[in-house]
Amino acid sequence: MLGTSQHSEADAKAAEAVLSLGPSVREHLTTLARESQEFLTRAIHHVVREEGIVQFVDFGFSANQLNDLSLHRAAKEAAAEADLPGVRIAYVDNTPTTYTAAALELAEDESIIFLDVNPLTPARALADPRLERHIDFSKPVCVIMFSFLHYVSDADDPRGVVNRVMRHVAPGSHLVAHHVTSDGLDPVLGAHVRQLFDGIGTPMSFRSQEEFEKFFGELELLEPGAVDTADWRGRSLLNEPHPLRALAAVGRKR
Ligand SMILES: C[S@@+](CC[C@H](N)C(=O)[O-])C[C@H]1O[C@@H](n2cnc3c(N)ncnc32)[C@H](O)[C@@H]1O
Repeated sequence: MLGTSQHSEADAKAAEAVLSLGPSVREHLTTLARESQEFLTRAIHHVVREEGIVQFVDFGFSANQLNDLSLHRAAKEAAAEADLPGVRIAYVDNTPTTYTAAALELAEDESIIFLDVNPLTPARALADPRLERHIDFSKPVCVIMFSFLHYVSDADDPRGVVNRVMRHVAPGSHLVAHHVTSDGLDPVLGAHVRQLFDGIGTPMSFRSQEEFEKFFGELELLEPGAVDTADWRGRSLLNEPHPLRALAAVGRKR
């Protein structure tokens, strides 16, 4: 969606399917993708600058993340600005094409590891000795679930996935999440998008704001709460509401 050169076959199919919905929807969705990525950058700068967190565990990786707005670039940039050493990033995903592309691209970077573990089985990821060696779980960690939870159907217990991870991390840890919402979704567009994503084998679960907020459970939601990605301490690039909205929020473990 952002026109990056790195993407898996599934990403390319998904982008192609959505873009086939026509020029105005295409423009909205490209803007939405950009706004969502910019939210991620702002959230990372916040946790690094205000909380001093330099450890990140990202569930659900796609080769789209090898772009200018990637988590690792933003984390390193924010840490350098705040003069904080010791940035550590762990990406968790077992999609074969994604894993190969990412591992090749970033193999030389010792601050980053890739765990080829299904992100839907966090207990396995958290028990992996490579993760224990890379991340110090006695200190706060920033957990990222960006463009991930809406690919996890209710049958795969997305709340259980989030809870399992957040139970493992120290107080002061943060959860940064982003999710497409059913709120305000045009029914015709929603049906098209569902059909397209079902057709390429990556069904998408649209959830309401209330359902999205429940992922944060007992976490303290930082201001301004769960809002459209652009409104999370930013401003939309469009003057009209998106026909398909994505929500973003950052929660802090007390
Ligand atoms: C489109 S990728 C997005 C990941 C990445 N955070 C990004 O921003 O590009 C979706 C992720 O959800 C995970 N996932 C879980 N269940 C899935 C499913 N049924 N279909 C597709 N992806 C699924 C995949 O491992 C994949 O990493």
